[in-house]
Amino acid sequence: MAKSIVSLPILCILLLLSFSSGGLLKLANGQDKTWCVAKPSSNDTALASNIQFACSQLGNLGLSCDMIKEDGICFNPNTLINHASVVMNSYYHAFGRNIWNCDFRGSALITISDPSYGSCQYP
Ligand SMILES: *[C@@H]1O[C@H](CO)[C@@H](O)[C@H](O)[C@H]1NC(C)=O
Repeated sequence: MAKSIVSLPILCILLLLSFSSGGLLKLANGQDKTWCVAKPSSNDTALASNIQFACSQLGNLGLSCDMIKEDGICFNPNTLINHASVVMNSYYHAFGRNIWNCDFRGSALITISDPSYGSCQYP
């Protein structure tokens, strides 16, 4: 009886600490970094307009979308969904990784697994 009276508040405090520091997410995958990618169900029109929007916004910050150009490190695979995901994540990263920076009219997803491949590193 005495044991459970003591341990319940402690358990609550541990749970609170865990939530307030984002601890549950950290426990689950060892880090709390997130990335933004295009929803696989997005149509080509949406993907192309996301690329256009993200690259023009990045351009305003003096950043480029050279990585998805023909000699860029993220050009291959040469698909709209790959190119869109790469630049949508760059936009998300450049603008502070807020959830509203990864919406793109509902055609984006935040992921906790790193989409980087080969030399194409997602920041
Ligand atoms: C593509 O997706 C967008 C956003 O979900 C939608 O508004 C648009 O109508 C779609 N276009 C086509 C051609 O399906």
